[in-house]
Amino acid sequence: PLDPSTPPDLRGLRVVVSAGPTREYLDPVRFISNPSSGKMGFAVAEEARDRGAEVVLVTGPVSLPNPPGVQVVRIETALELRDAVVEAARDAELVVMTAAVADYRAAERSEEKQAKVAGDVTIHLTPNPDILAELGGQKGNRVLVGFAMETHAGVERAALKAQRKNADFILLNYPTREGTAFGGDDNEVTLVRPDGTSEEWPRLSKREVARRLLDEAVRVRGTR
Ligand code: CTP
Ligand code: CA
Repeated sequence: PLDPSTPPDLRGLRVVVSAGPTREYLDPVRFISNPSSGKMGFAVAEEARDRGAEVVLVTGPVSLPNPPGVQVVRIETALELRDAVVEAARDAELVVMTAAVADYRAAERSEEKQAKVAGDVTIHLTPNPDILAELGGQKGNRVLVGFAMETHAGVERAALKAQRKNADFILLNYPTREGTAFGGDDNEVTLVRPDGTSEEWPRLSKREVARRLLDEAVRVRGTR
């Protein structure tokens, strides 16, 4: 239900949001992944929709239902995520990468289930493309927002990431705070800009974090 106080300030804007984990298959029945629930990205997509945006939500496997009024693209692997995001971002004004993209995939994905062997096994991994960096390399007028999870030196590392990927800002969150980040309904984030300036936000619902994220994106867009 649309809150009557919600401003339609994103009307006509095309927004792409990525959400959830990726799965990097070793064989048809095994994959490498992470605990991302998709809640943060879905909250951004729903908030943007309620503010009048045309939203494409590209999501990895999560248990959340498709939000009404949002174009949802379901993918599994980082390579599929890349293709879907790059395609959708072509005519978008804002891209928000909340997806927890696996950094590596199996160098060879076996078409047949691998039987176990006696003793240790070694898996050869190869790097996945960095989607946010790729978008940053051909940025145009788009506003680009990333997320980062860090256990230490968060602000410093997030600012370097924002610089390296040409993102307008990154929301830094922490994997160790109860009820936040992976799977939680709340989040505690620090907004970090490429110039190293940052703002610590209080603990908020993911929907409220989404609201503030979009406020900041609108502000950045206004400076272009
Ligand atoms: N990201 C991406 N493509 C990747 C990896 C990350 O688009 N292959 C995006 C994430 O969606 C996030 C941002 O980049 O918005 C930062 O992700 P993070 O994992 O913190 O950055 P990395 O560059 O992968 O660095 P790290 O070595 O800390 O994992
Ligand atoms: Ca990473």
